[in-house]
Amino acid sequence: MLVEKNVPLQPFNTFHIVAKAQALVRITQESDVLAVLADPEWGATPKFVLGGGSNIVLTGDVKPLVLKVEVKGRRLVSETAKAFIVEAGAGEVWHDFVAWTLAQGYPGLENMALIPGTVGASPVQNVGAYGVELQDRFESLDAMDLQTGQVFTLNAAQCAFGYRDSVFKHGGTVQRGVHQTMGLKDRALILRVKFALPKAWKPVLGYADIEKKMAEHGCTTPAAQQIFDWVCAVRRAKLPDPAVIGNVGSFFKNPTVTPEQCADIIARDPKVVHYHLADGAIKLAAGWLIDSCGWKGKSVGQAGVFEKQALVLVNRGAGTDGNGATGGEVMTLAKAIQTSVYERFGILLEPEPVVV
Ligand code: EPU
Repeated sequence: MLVEKNVPLQPFNTFHIVAKAQALVRITQESDVLAVLADPEWGATPKFVLGGGSNIVLTGDVKPLVLKVEVKGRRLVSETAKAFIVEAGAGEVWHDFVAWTLAQGYPGLENMALIPGTVGASPVQNVGAYGVELQDRFESLDAMDLQTGQVFTLNAAQCAFGYRDSVFKHGGTVQRGVHQTMGLKDRALILRVKFALPKAWKPVLGYADIEKKMAEHGCTTPAAQQIFDWVCAVRRAKLPDPAVIGNVGSFFKNPTVTPEQCADIIARDPKVVHYHLADGAIKLAAGWLIDSCGWKGKSVGQAGVFEKQALVLVNRGAGTDGNGATGGEVMTLAKAIQTSVYERFGILLEPEPVVV
């Protein structure tokens, strides 16, 4: 087992924040995890699972042993009457996997093209874009219990998917020896994910950005590859490429409010962007709330609010020279944004990434 010491994490987090892992082991297969667990020095030490680093804010060096997931492989596992069941290793790059499924003739993931990160990280926050969420295409996943070394399989219900949420974002709570809530944060390492891609594929349309592309191209029944290309174009036009400008995508979740709260906001700000949800609640566009508080283009140190999308915080100095934003600057900026949105709208924005 190779334990690398003092490993720079800047290349392994899409915010390009400078930090080090005191110790890091690369995981390419189950046996690598088992070797860690059986090791007299490392077996019992706390562990931190690192995927594509696309949803974390590093606020200092990482003290737990970093398990960097590099499990590869993608294949058609089986076919049912309704779906192609396709599997990918947790270390596969998400976007490359989406492109591969389309090239193989298995559409269904095209609306989620170009989401940064790895396949293994995708269920953790139930990634989603342009009307499709991971849970809509999810079949099951295999994960390893980091305490017992046992591999287990979870279906969608067991993953407890929510909006940018799953069982992997929560720690379990135990009170007086009784499990109050189930959570797998820091407890499980996702090895492989299976997707069910529908044979009776239908395009998922209805999102304003996609509708606009359809009108521009005079196309009412786009193919999956066409949607993939449009989603890539839309994202490239308004979201910063993490390879160039460090970021973790949306920094806050879009909040939901009651119709009464929304009516109250509309009375003061008639232009507030909002969407009616099936359960009667109303989702507000956090980007709009932040934008209307005047945050676009503002900075704290080298951490800034992206000029074209106020929901995205960026690292303005993300060179390899160490002059980029610190995690502290990012969090100070995030807190200032939360405060101003709260003071104006009475809504506390919830961050999307995991703060480490
Ligand atoms: N808006 C503004 N000003 C801004 C940003 C947005 O007025 O600075 C307005 C837009 O004009 C639009 C509305 O807010 O009317 C929503 O904006 P957008 O369509 O860009 O989507 P979003 O709600 O900000 C969500 C996801 C994205 C996903 C897009 C498309 C969340 C937190 N974010 O963004 O996901 O790509 O929809 O489906 O749900 C991510 O999670 O990292 C991510 C990028």
